[in-house]
Amino acid sequence: MRTLVAWPDSQALAGGLAAALGCETLALETRRFPDEELYLCVTGDARDRHAVVVASLDRPDLKFPGLLFLADLLRHEGALSVGLAAPYLAYLRQDTQFQPGEAVTSRTFARMISGSFDWLITVDPHLHRYQSLGEIYSIPNRVLHAAPAVADWIGCNAPAPVLIGPDSESAQWVSDIASRIGAPWLTLEKKRHGDRSVEVSIPNPARLTGRTPVLVDDILSSGRTMIAAARRLVALGHHEITCIGVHAILAGDARAAMHDAGIHRIVTCNTIADPTNQIDLTADLAAAVNAMPPNRA
Ligand code: R5P
Repeated sequence: MRTLVAWPDSQALAGGLAAALGCETLALETRRFPDEELYLCVTGDARDRHAVVVASLDRPDLKFPGLLFLADLLRHEGALSVGLAAPYLAYLRQDTQFQPGEAVTSRTFARMISGSFDWLITVDPHLHRYQSLGEIYSIPNRVLHAAPAVADWIGCNAPAPVLIGPDSESAQWVSDIASRIGAPWLTLEKKRHGDRSVEVSIPNPARLTGRTPVLVDDILSSGRTMIAAARRLVALGHHEITCIGVHAILAGDARAAMHDAGIHRIVTCNTIADPTNQIDLTADLAAAVNAMPPNRA
């Protein structure tokens, strides 16, 4: 029998997943002691259950090591296995030493998650220099892609679109989405000068003529990538700019700054709970949880 337990900010998604899977849930209480150490307590029966922790890993430093404590707690309470459904997976950016002395946090993070959980499901992880999660995660894992759901949303909500990926890396998902709806697509040329300093250029602006621009990226973080792209589009006379991101990190002033730059609608998937969530991946995640092996391989 399976039971779900949600990290507090993933409760909405976990509720939908439990309903789709027809399974029980455990309640999780978390709070901080005065010295900021974490207190965790689960209520409900984990004994002889296959537990699934639902936790999106945005703002990971606030949730870690709590997730490791939770996996350990569930085993102590008698769970037969503990899987992790993390629709957004953190710590993939630092996938090499760009400068001597830098920590390759992706590897360390993967090792710690693999040591505590029996399997991992995520959506469109930011794989750049790694070809697959299996290079750093030693547990069974499944990667879902938001492209079919994003394509459906665009098909229903954005007439005559031209899909625009902000950099060459985005070609993989922008081309996939575009081919599903028969829309033209292009990628921009991007130079990142710093965390919040991005420059983009549009190689062939004529391809946008007569079309409504839809910017598509995997992660909306500081929003600076999308802001730089939107400014180019506004300069070309486009005023109906939709921006779609799979994962709505939207750190700091990202949301307001994106609107100020001329983006009139921001749409995201429900991998990170946010008011911009309009694309629901619950059914895909439920099917993936159903397909995971219950025990460690
Ligand atoms: C980078 O390669 C990613 O695909 C995104 O373009 C990036 O994470 C967006 O970051 P920001 O919103 O901070 O520009």
